[in-house]
Amino acid sequence: MPHPVSIQFRDTDLDALLTQEGRIALVQDAGVTLSPAARKLDRATRGAVTRALASDAFGKLKPGEALDLAFPAGLAAEALQLVRLPKRTDPLTARKAGAAIGKALKSAALTVVAEGHPRAAELAFGLALRAYSFDTYRGGEAKPFGPVAFMVTNPETVAAEAAPGAALAEGVFFARDLVWEPANVLTTWDFAARLAAMQELGLEVEILDEDTLEKLGMRALLGVGQGSESPSKVVVMQWKGGREGEAPLALVGKGVCFDTGGISIKPAAGMEEMTMDMGGAATVAGTMRALALRRAKANVVGLVGLVENMPDGRAQRPGDVVKSMKGDTIEVINTDAEGRLVLADVLWYAQERFNPKGMIDLATLTGAIIVALGHENTGVFSTDDALCDAFLKAAAAEGEGAWRMPMGEAYDAMLKSRIADMRNSCGREGGSVTAAQFLARFVKPEVPWIHLDIAGTAYTKAETAMAPKGATGWGVLALDRLIRDRFEG
Ligand code: BES
Ligand code: MN
Ligand code: ZN
Repeated sequence: MPHPVSIQFRDTDLDALLTQEGRIALVQDAGVTLSPAARKLDRATRGAVTRALASDAFGKLKPGEALDLAFPAGLAAEALQLVRLPKRTDPLTARKAGAAIGKALKSAALTVVAEGHPRAAELAFGLALRAYSFDTYRGGEAKPFGPVAFMVTNPETVAAEAAPGAALAEGVFFARDLVWEPANVLTTWDFAARLAAMQELGLEVEILDEDTLEKLGMRALLGVGQGSESPSKVVVMQWKGGREGEAPLALVGKGVCFDTGGISIKPAAGMEEMTMDMGGAATVAGTMRALALRRAKANVVGLVGLVENMPDGRAQRPGDVVKSMKGDTIEVINTDAEGRLVLADVLWYAQERFNPKGMIDLATLTGAIIVALGHENTGVFSTDDALCDAFLKAAAAEGEGAWRMPMGEAYDAMLKSRIADMRNSCGREGGSVTAAQFLARFVKPEVPWIHLDIAGTAYTKAETAMAPKGATGWGVLALDRLIRDRFEG
């Protein structure tokens, strides 16, 4: 199983530092008086700590960066990590410092010396987020993380401050695990079952099966899944922590468990990474989990469309025309532009059933957004400036990259079809924008809406500030903060 790190907060124990095996991380700034624990470590190492803190190497570190003293004489530890962090620092820098510690964490024990640091809880949060690894299928190689102890000045206070972070980290890890899981394991069945299991946390979870989707008229969504042995499903997760009867915020996720492209099949190179094409659904699920774990005082409904896009004798073909639940017809130019077909029906269903006061969809929707923004920023598309600005602020506060992209009538006009109300693909130019315009056709004008294209940010080839390379769980933190800022209390 993937193994999140468990952190204990306790009072500083000076003697324990000398006998501590594994690693010690000392959180310290340059040019300030040493804390009692730092002095103890300095004396035990015959001044190595003071010399290191005065060195050029330490002086060149930015706040939040660290250097290792390997096998320090006088200590039992195999490494003493010096983490540069001033006392007065912003939360994201404290998280970055925690991530530097978390990155080095292995199966050995770790003690973090953070006495008197006002951002100890943020340090712990960054450590936990970065220390994640997905080892489910690595057999004997995967050892659990060693125990992590934080020496702080007020353990109870810091533990209380760190509690919401633990709930959020669990939401992020839930999303990352889902993104990592291979498609032979995470079928639509399996995905739905993992979501249904969240009923234990107080979420109401419903699974709509193919018969139900057929009766609702979701032919756009069903067309995508019709070449797969795994039946298409829509899962509805309701968190009712707000006032009774108050309209919810709706979160909608693309859950393509595997995207071969269908009959418009993708090239073989790199196709294995299309196991991440359910990243939108994963972020929605992770956010719902975090909301339930921290008992959020808001009404939020999460809806995910779970399908698999396969080529088959029954698969949808280029040129097919499908009718959406809304009633509009769509000419399927390219069966690989499947995410928008799934979302069209789930977006419409979310509005018809819940009349939401806001709607945000997340989808690994286009390769074009990676061309435009790389892996640094999610593409943000919106028809509502107020909601969009609030989201961009929340994402910035959480250090999750997000960049607003344009929309407009000229792009919408590109969706014109030979024979239907619209086509699902119109070439490479502005590919992410025309995808967003397609979705916009299924959003009622009175509903404030944001579309997040996370194709570049849900899964990355290089590590990011808060995640090892691979699944990031991008968006759980930003969405949770947006909900705290705008939809709670
Ligand atoms: N799932 C892909 C988008 C994607 C690409 C996600 C790379 C993550 C990494 C999506 O379904 C897709 O295939 N989009 C096509 C759209 C095109 C056919 C209009 C694309 O981006 O090429
Ligand atoms: Mn596709
Ligand atoms: Zn896709």
